[in-house]
Amino acid sequence: METKTINSFPKNFLWGSATAAFQCEGAAYEDGKGLSVMDVREQNPKICNYEVASDHYHHFKEDVALMKECGLKAYRFSIAWTRIFPQGNGNVNQLGVDFYNRLIDELVAANITPIVTIYHFEYPQGLIEQYGGWLSRKSIDDYVNYASFLFKTYGDRVKYWITINEQDHVVHMPFRLGLKGDDLYENEKAGFLANHHMCIAAAKTFKACHELVEGGKIGPAVCFDMMYPTSNRPADMMAWLDAMEIRNYYVLDLNVKGEYGGVFKRYLEDRGWMPKLQEGDLACLKENKPDFIGFNYYASKSISAYPLSDKNKIGDMVIKLLPAEEAGIYKVVKNENLNATLWGWEIDDIGLEGVCRLLWERYRLPLMITENGFGNKEVMPEEGMIQDDDRIDYLHRHLLAVKRAMNVGVEFIGYCNWSFMDIVSGHSGFSKRYGLVYVNRDEFDLKDLSRSKKKSFYWYQETIACNGENI
Ligand code: BG6
Repeated sequence: METKTINSFPKNFLWGSATAAFQCEGAAYEDGKGLSVMDVREQNPKICNYEVASDHYHHFKEDVALMKECGLKAYRFSIAWTRIFPQGNGNVNQLGVDFYNRLIDELVAANITPIVTIYHFEYPQGLIEQYGGWLSRKSIDDYVNYASFLFKTYGDRVKYWITINEQDHVVHMPFRLGLKGDDLYENEKAGFLANHHMCIAAAKTFKACHELVEGGKIGPAVCFDMMYPTSNRPADMMAWLDAMEIRNYYVLDLNVKGEYGGVFKRYLEDRGWMPKLQEGDLACLKENKPDFIGFNYYASKSISAYPLSDKNKIGDMVIKLLPAEEAGIYKVVKNENLNATLWGWEIDDIGLEGVCRLLWERYRLPLMITENGFGNKEVMPEEGMIQDDDRIDYLHRHLLAVKRAMNVGVEFIGYCNWSFMDIVSGHSGFSKRYGLVYVNRDEFDLKDLSRSKKKSFYWYQETIACNGENI
């Protein structure tokens, strides 16, 4: 809807930026840190020197000084579980605890609100070896104990917490669950069992946060791509509805409403993937709610019907980053109306406006955009700075979409661009950069790891300074 007036961003809007531990810290084997599934995976195949990443572990003071200069009101970062508990449970590693105390103190001194992700893909390898990780119910207690330890240790200074980053991705990425086999059907089944355990763990952690952190607020951070039916054919429309339920809403329905939605449940039951619930599981989910919905938004997808035929049967699917097609349900097709990044992620700010409205209407909880950003190949010029006008345009358009959503009543806590500085991309090493700050290194040549502000740094600085009046 086009409207006559556009509201301003609220005064207390958290203008933020985000990273994750394994992607920026480096020091992968330093100061007693244990192995995570990401350490195991990053080595194999090794696409870049990830052990050093952006060396934030040793540059954090300089990085926080840059955040302060940019004017950030909030910084979302994750704690590496295995820096705190090298085996995932058991003994605490004091050196790891100290590192995050120093980082949090530095942020607080710079007037930057810390937003802490408890678990961002880095599941402890030790727990995989002890009992199979998220596939065992034992994982629930270990996660809740770890989170409770964080609440007790840092909760005096950290009031915003994120339980699990992109649980909806973890479910479909076997290596993130420590799975080795390549039987797609079995992996998906295991993924949805892990999903159930993660939801129970999250529910118990919402409760623990409310009990242990005075004024604490907690929520998940799911990945939520906008989806559209490709055409007005009714079959495309139904495929879109199904895809929204089984790919987008299911984690939030469990986190917020405490229920397996009808379409999702039938989908799992038909395939023999419905986890066995224990008595009290649904009650636990229903009783414990998050305070906000965090979500990562990068792109949208176009959905087409994909009928069963002689050639394909129920259960046939193609998984790229996420399931891209599933026989009898849907197919993702190219949207000819949108431009895409070099990696084919379709750029769609209107899609973000749509997601905000859908989430607000369905759950009525304030939103926090926990990630949103533009990945690109960038080379530092000999002189001057990186002129990342494409990134500025991307961020500007997406913030305008937030403003439009606000205008029709959607409530927001804040917005975090991804990422503050260049960090190891989830799938593309250092050839895909998202930062407002350039980090001088290549895939394997670590150079001097110096930091240089990009044009987008100054643009975000100006945007924050005028509380988004330039949007
Ligand atoms: C999100 C993750 O999926 O997307 C981040 O939470 C990730 O960890 C980001 O880096 C962008 O993905 P990629 O693959 O471009 O780095």
